[in-house]
This record gives sequence, structure tokens and C-alpha cells, in this order.
Amino acid sequence: MEPLGIALLGCGTVGSGVARLLLTENERLSKRAGRPLRLRWVLVRDPSKPRGVALPSDIITTDFRTVLRDPQVMVVIELIGGLEPARHFILQSLEAGKDVITANKAVLAHYGDDIFETARRYGRTVAFEASVGGGIPIIAALAEELAANQILSIQAILNGTSNFILTQMQEEGVSYEAALAEAQRRGYAEADPTLDVSGADAAHKLAILSRLAFGPGPSVQEIFCRGIDQLQLADLRFAQELGYTIKLLAEAWLQDGQVALHVEPTLIHRLAPLAQVRGVYNAILVRGDVVGQTLYAGRGAGQMPTTSAILADLIDLAIGRAQLTFRTLRLWENHNRLPLRPPERIRSRFYLRITVEDRPGVIGEVATILGKHQVSISSVIQHEALDECEGEAVPVVIMTHTTNLSAFRLAVAQIDRLSCVAAPSIYYPVAD
Ligand code: NAP
Ligand code: HSE
Repeated sequence: MEPLGIALLGCGTVGSGVARLLLTENERLSKRAGRPLRLRWVLVRDPSKPRGVALPSDIITTDFRTVLRDPQVMVVIELIGGLEPARHFILQSLEAGKDVITANKAVLAHYGDDIFETARRYGRTVAFEASVGGGIPIIAALAEELAANQILSIQAILNGTSNFILTQMQEEGVSYEAALAEAQRRGYAEADPTLDVSGADAAHKLAILSRLAFGPGPSVQEIFCRGIDQLQLADLRFAQELGYTIKLLAEAWLQDGQVALHVEPTLIHRLAPLAQVRGVYNAILVRGDVVGQTLYAGRGAGQMPTTSAILADLIDLAIGRAQLTFRTLRLWENHNRLPLRPPERIRSRFYLRITVEDRPGVIGEVATILGKHQVSISSVIQHEALDECEGEAVPVVIMTHTTNLSAFRLAVAQIDRLSCVAAPSIYYPVAD
């Protein structure tokens, strides 16, 4: 059978893993694909860079036009990352009649509409299993295995770097900076790690999952997003004391024809399944109206888990399954857009840490404001201080009952204007 010609755009952390397996495990992969797989080109910026894979020198190029003009290249695997030139290369590949595999969640979250419409126009397929959850087959689960369901909610840990950092800080006492440096050394982080720790990478992934689960909805820019970069050790410790762990949680749910979407550090009860997800692992809880709750877990970042997902897409394309799913399930089509659920209609429990002067009446002032906004307190922690410290600023931690998000935010803003409040209050949702 005619070989399937492949071009790899990028040969960094993931690209070098894909190239290595295509070269060293070619027989196994070709057998599974039902035809020979032939790596024809590897596009990089710097051809002299060592890559941890023995690439024949005549397949390395720095000119994308070489890939585009080669009629034997049928599949382009984009592993450059970032928005440009990745978007351009994907669109041009599709227009040139090549199918595309990508792990680039940023480009899909921002330009998915354009990319998928172009693929349809040119009768091509875009496969993107590696874009969410590293080696976890969550795209296949949503697009194929749960196809009979109306998905109701997704609750997920989607950034391996952030989860690795949080685990290192909470369990090993490692500093934030040292944990981030280790995540970078292990190849988990994005080229720009701000995307990981700001929550943007998890928001990109949530946008993709939400699109598959609920159809067209709010743009990625509309997703409420906070990362772990502002998280303080004090909150990790208070959470632990209360029986919770803090995770960067991405949530999406469908309610009354609206989609709620947010990414933020969230308190999760230490016995809940997502609290057990440690290190670089990701996990995704999906609730469907027919199946009920399902849980997917695995290594969410790193060279080999991501390579596994890329090669699964390649085999699917080689045997024609990816094309079938793409066409028949009409993935990523543009039809009625669901609106974003506004904060007035979102309810949650909250963890609130206020920093107040330790003097008479302070707790009363805070409680009065919370009460006025219908925020009910479920517990309060103020650690005992020495008598001579009276008047100094101390942390007070309040757990609330389920309350309305916008009312809660108004209450916090009002609390922060009190003369007894010494620093901006910190709050995080508590997952149920
Ligand atoms: P990376 O290590 O930074 O590698 C990027 C590669 O792209 C490098 O080989 C670089 O060439 C090449 N490149 C960059 N700009 C280029 C340009 N303008 N023209 C030609 N080549 C260019 O990135 P990565 O970690 O492998 O990630 C690749 C993609 O996979 C990203 O979209 C990322 O979000 C996604 N992803 C990564 C992981 C992970 O764990 N790392 C997991 C899932 C998904 P040089 O080597 O010559 O500089
Ligand atoms: N930087 C990403 C993460 C890679 O840490 O999850 C996987 O998408």
C-alpha cells in the first residue's frame, strides 16, 4: 500500500518524541495504521540544534514551502505552538489538501472556527486529541464514546504544570519558583510558562472541551480565568486545615440554555476524586444525561503522553476513522451560539480570607456586610494571638454556605473598604 507521507512542524519537546517513535517504532505503528508511515519532513527554526532524536539530515528543513509543495505529504503534524505562524501553517496545509494533526490548544481556542471551516471547505480533517489532557483520550470520549449524551457538566484539572507545582508546594514544601523550574525542565510547561500559571492554558483547553460538549458558545476571552500565580502558601495551609486541597479547576456546565465557564484555584474536599490527582496528572469528570458521571485521568503533559495522543490521531487518519468522525459528527460546526451564564446566576460556596486589625467589633462588621448580601457563614477560623499583639493585622478565614457569586463579590468589595481591613481579601470557590 502507498506510504502515508508525514511532515512534522516543530521538533521540540513533543515533536522530538513523535519523530523518535515514527523512526524507532515504525513497523509497529505502520502495522496498526494499515499502511507504511513515512516521515518526509521535519520543520524547525534552527537545524543545528541537538534534538534527542537521530533525524536523517535530508528531512530537516527551515522552509515551510518545502512541506507545502511536497505532494507526498498527506498529513501535517503541527507542534510549533503559539498563534502565529502556527495558524497560518495549519490553514495553508488544509488549503493544499493535507490533513492536519495539532496539539496546539491556543490556536484552536482562538481560531478554531476558521480552522475547522477551512478544513470542511477543502474536504480535509483536523485531529486534535493531544490538545487537551496530554495522553488522556478525552477528545475521543466526548466526540465519539459519549455521542449519545447531552453533556451536562465538565469539572477538570487541565494544566499539568500547575498541578505539578501545587503538589510540590503542598506535599514536598518546594517553593513556587523551584517547582515551576522543575516543570519546565521536565518539558511540561509551555514555551511561555505564563500561559500555564495564569490559567490561560487551562482556559484554552476548557474552550475546546466546551465546544465539543455544548456546541458554539462564549469565546475563550469570555472565560473567567485566574491562575495559580497569585496563590499564597497561607491559603494552601488554611485549606489543608479545613480538610481541603487547592487545585486549578476548570469547570463548564450547561444550565437554562446558558454555559458557565471558569478556571480558577478551587478548594476541593480532600476525599473527592479530583483531590487525589497529583503531579503532572490531569483528570476530567464528565457528566452526561444518559451515562451519568465518568472520570478520565492520566498524565496531562510531557513528551511521551502527548506523543501517544498524536500517534493515535495519525493511526486514526491512516485508517480513515478520524475523517469519518470529523464529517459525520460535524465537529466544531457553527450554529446557534449559547450565551455565557452571568455571575448573577452562578451559585457556589466560598473560602474567604480577610486580613483585619485584631480589635473589638471587627468580626461583627464583616459578618454584618456578609449578612446584608445574603451570604451565610458556615465556619470561621481566627488563630489565637498573644495579648500584646492585639491591634495587629491577622488573617480571618470564613467558609460560606452556597451563595450567589455576584452578591458575594459585592460583599467582599464592601468588606475591603472597611477601615479595619488591612489588605485586599482573597477568595476562592469551593467545589461540590
Ligand atoms: P517546544 O518544545 O517549544 O517546541 C517547538 C518547536 O517548534 C521547536 O522545535 C521549534 O524549533 C519549532 N518552531 C517554533 N517556531 C517555529 C517557526 N516559526 N518555524 C519553524 N519551527 C518553529 O514546544 P512543545 O512543548 O513541543 O509544544 C508543541 C505544541 O504542543 C504546543 O502547541 C504545546 O502547547 C502543545 N503541547 C505540549 C505539551 C507538552 O507537554 N510539552 C503537551 C500537550 C500539548 P527550534 O527547535 O528550532 O527552536
Ligand atoms: N503546558 C501544558 C500543561 C502542556 O502543563 O498542561 C499540556 O497541554
